[in-house]
Amino acid sequence: MITLSTIRQTYDRCSSFYDLFFKPWLEFGRRQAIENLRPKPGQTVLEIGVGTGLSLEFYPPDVRVVAFDYSHGMLTESKGKVASEAPCPVDLLQMDVQAMAFPDGSFDRIMAAYVLTVVPDIHQAMREILRVARPGARVVLINHLTRRSGLLAWVENLFHPVFARLGLFTLDRDLLSILESYGVEELQTEPTSWLGLHHVIAFTVPTTGSDGAASGRHPVIR
Ligand SMILES: C[S@@+](CC[C@H](N)C(=O)[O-])C[C@H]1O[C@@H](n2cnc3c(N)ncnc32)[C@H](O)[C@@H]1O
Repeated sequence: MITLSTIRQTYDRCSSFYDLFFKPWLEFGRRQAIENLRPKPGQTVLEIGVGTGLSLEFYPPDVRVVAFDYSHGMLTESKGKVASEAPCPVDLLQMDVQAMAFPDGSFDRIMAAYVLTVVPDIHQAMREILRVARPGARVVLINHLTRRSGLLAWVENLFHPVFARLGLFTLDRDLLSILESYGVEELQTEPTSWLGLHHVIAFTVPTTGSDGAASGRHPVIR
């Protein structure tokens, strides 16, 4: 089972060589997601689980990005990208998506690439995303979508326990059903990455009736 401590250990350990594997393979998806996010000049974008900062180069220069990650090692790598590659101002924070330190309704644009397969409690993460989003905000995710049949589904089922045990990611989440259960609007998906292993998933935050009630406590993880 993935926990915050396995995430921290795993991603701290692989932060220095993460880009070697995951920059070329997943590059196209990051660019596609930010194009799909369509941030307007002057808007502040929240990027969740920014990792080593591989997406930062794709933002337009006229936005501000607030980006966070739970792994200190990954954030250390992303600091370098902020200095050398980001075309816009970026604030980096250490935080848990399941308990964000932002007030309700803070953001019009939210992006999370390859993160919701990793967080321990996807429902808590979704409640938090909907809480910090303004009503009508655009959210773009890149994520694995569950396959129900075929050879790839079989291979995924076989290797899934190994990846989950390593704290890398889990593949047993039916993200589209979860999003629908929170009443998100204008839900769209398009395949990205090799073999269509991931999808860019975009939706609009409902203007009323989301389940994103604030808990009142949003501690920053240090
Ligand atoms: C597969 S990596 C993706 C990183 C980056 N978005 C990319 O495109 O390469 C998953 C990232 O999510 C972060 N993460 C996992 N659980 C998190 C949580 N609960 N809160 C914040 N970040 C989290 C990990 O530390 C890791 O950097």
